[in-house]
Amino acid sequence: MTRRGRFITLEGGEGVGKTTNLALVVDHLEAHGIEVVRTREPGGTPRAEAIRGLLLDPAGNEPLDDDAELLLVFAARAQHLARVVRPALERGAWVVCDRFTDATFAYQGGGRGIDASRIAELEAFVQRGLTPDLTLLLDMPMAAAQRRLEGRLDHDGGERDRFERERAEFFEAVRRAYLARAKAAPDRVCVVNADQPLDAVQDELRTLLDDRLEAWS
Ligand code: TMP
Repeated sequence: MTRRGRFITLEGGEGVGKTTNLALVVDHLEAHGIEVVRTREPGGTPRAEAIRGLLLDPAGNEPLDDDAELLLVFAARAQHLARVVRPALERGAWVVCDRFTDATFAYQGGGRGIDASRIAELEAFVQRGLTPDLTLLLDMPMAAAQRRLEGRLDHDGGERDRFERERAEFFEAVRRAYLARAKAAPDRVCVVNADQPLDAVQDELRTLLDDRLEAWS
């Protein structure tokens, strides 16, 4: 019987360098001969990407209700789990996902103020016990992350999405909620200091991955 693949998630606020570091994680695992499925949330399938559009689109004058936002996040997750994540894990591939349910506890819980117990109910309903084996949380002070986000937006000429338009207090609450998640699950969530030169961040990530690869072998 094929052994179930490992499920690794990458988390952090806006501007912490998730995209660059996700590529490093995927490359490092592939260099060890592992088949990796790289994906993201919200999204990862055409229908889940359409839900992502609803979540991120700042357009229109109809505010998105917080509960509707939470349910959309989990609707996208249910679709993504059914179509991409579970099938990949079952055939023995590893899944590296840019954000997962820790982001819901951070953004909808910390940021929007939704009670963690309600998020946990949806988590149990949608995930039926499936949780990441390892979560890499890229952390940096909010001001530094905001400067990097601004630099990226200036460079790409991009518009801020619906979350990126939030105020500083929202992002402080997101960061606090992420760190609280890490504290509550220290064996699963590894906090990486992202406020250092990229080489140093990537050395830390490689070491963390090598430790896990050894522990899991
Ligand atoms: P990204 O910036 O990493 O592409 O993610 C898109 C946004 O979606 C980001 O601002 C965080 C938000 N988000 C939530 O609010 N809840 C969630 O559960 C997830 C996965 C993302």
